[in-house]
Amino acid sequence: MKKLEMLYEGKAKKVYKTDDEKRYIIEYKDDATAFNGEKKGTIVGKGIINNKMSALLFKLLEEKGIPTHFVEILSDREMLVKDVKILPLEVIMRNVAAGSLSKRLGIEEGTILKTPVLEFCYKNDDLGDPMINEYHIRAIELATDEQLEKVKEYAFKINEILIDFFKERNIKLIDFKLEFGIHDGEVILADEISPDTCRLWDADTNRKLDKDRFRRDLGDVEKAYEEVLSRLQ
Ligand code: C5P
Repeated sequence: MKKLEMLYEGKAKKVYKTDDEKRYIIEYKDDATAFNGEKKGTIVGKGIINNKMSALLFKLLEEKGIPTHFVEILSDREMLVKDVKILPLEVIMRNVAAGSLSKRLGIEEGTILKTPVLEFCYKNDDLGDPMINEYHIRAIELATDEQLEKVKEYAFKINEILIDFFKERNIKLIDFKLEFGIHDGEVILADEISPDTCRLWDADTNRKLDKDRFRRDLGDVEKAYEEVLSRLQ
């Protein structure tokens, strides 16, 4: 597999073409941003951890029947993935109140939600990824009805699988963000699952083991990422 020209550089990842037109290489960077790019920094080693953790979780989800874009790990920072057309949606699943939900609804962080909450944001940097609902998605044709049903079905299934997986490792899955894409006409899970995209709290102490340590200047960011990966492996 030959790595060809870079197609796209995002905040935390680069995507390269390969000599196989159906395969791409994702390279995970150490760059960290928050608040729609207003806060910038580096989390040393993050790219390696996010690559390993995403690979591990994609494999787990595939085994449990969720189709993903993951093909194989190529190096510390690189994975081979299937070509997808990304749906312009951030799919957020919440089990415990935190972050923007706590702020918006005035609910104390850490409050357990009676049922999981699914939210959608429109992936659009210029607009700051505004929250939308299913009616917006249909009205501005961000996904078809059929695609949207699959996204919802997978999001709830993924939540159940990941809650159990993290629980066995003494970690509470507070919330997380997913992105889906279309590959050969089918909805599949894409992007990454990492401490950048999940809130993960130690089950005994509620210590934050995720990107909130960077967003909120809590310190020991690298240590927290390493801690999560070591519990998963
Ligand atoms: O900020 P908020 O509380 O809405 O974030 C909910 C979840 O989605 C968090 O786990 C956060 O890490 C993730 N998220 C993300 N990328 C974004 C927005 C949120 O990974 N652009």
